[in-house]
Amino acid sequence: MTTDERIKNAATSVCKAIFPNTTNHYDTLFGGQALGWMDEVAFIVATRFCRKDVVTVSMDRTDFKKPIPAGTIVQMVGSIVKVGRTSMQVQVEMFVEEMFSDHRESAILGTFTLVAIDEKRRPIPVRD
Ligand SMILES: CC(C)(COP(=O)(O)OP(=O)(O)OC[C@H]1O[C@@H](n2cnc3c(N)ncnc32)[C@H](O)[C@@H]1OP(=O)(O)O)[C@@H](O)C(=O)NCCC(=O)NCCS
Repeated sequence: MTTDERIKNAATSVCKAIFPNTTNHYDTLFGGQALGWMDEVAFIVATRFCRKDVVTVSMDRTDFKKPIPAGTIVQMVGSIVKVGRTSMQVQVEMFVEEMFSDHRESAILGTFTLVAIDEKRRPIPVRD
């Protein structure tokens, strides 16, 4: 498979319903919960790209643009934006969607860097 094909195949989309156990005392999605979900999506994207063990080495700038109220649906869309020697940069965007209308907008945008590692947890090339 070419790198471009791998990037295309690694793209990942995950939806969640915003139930009360994920919200803060303002009744909106807790930021730490959002980051955890986004890191998981980034992990899946990077793993699907290189098919090796990966760890997150950096969470770059993440912008929380809109509050995400309880009782909405979110969709996280992750894709590879840069391939290094041993690292991959993954952008994850979270969209918020009302349950009873078609309104949908971008709420959070973040970039994660993950590194492929061997059994001794040392960085290894993402491509053979
Ligand atoms: C990931 C880890 C193995 C990298 O080890 P390291 O000695 O820093 O590796 P290197 O300096 O050789 O860098 C490896 C790659 O990561 C990149 N990198 C390292 N630190 C980075 C950072 N802070 N931000 C962005 N990229 C980084 C390097 O640019 C390099 O990329 P390239 O090979 O594509 O050019 C090591 O830092 C580690 O184990 N960290 C803990 C990871 C972890 O436990 N994550 C879970 C979160 S709790």
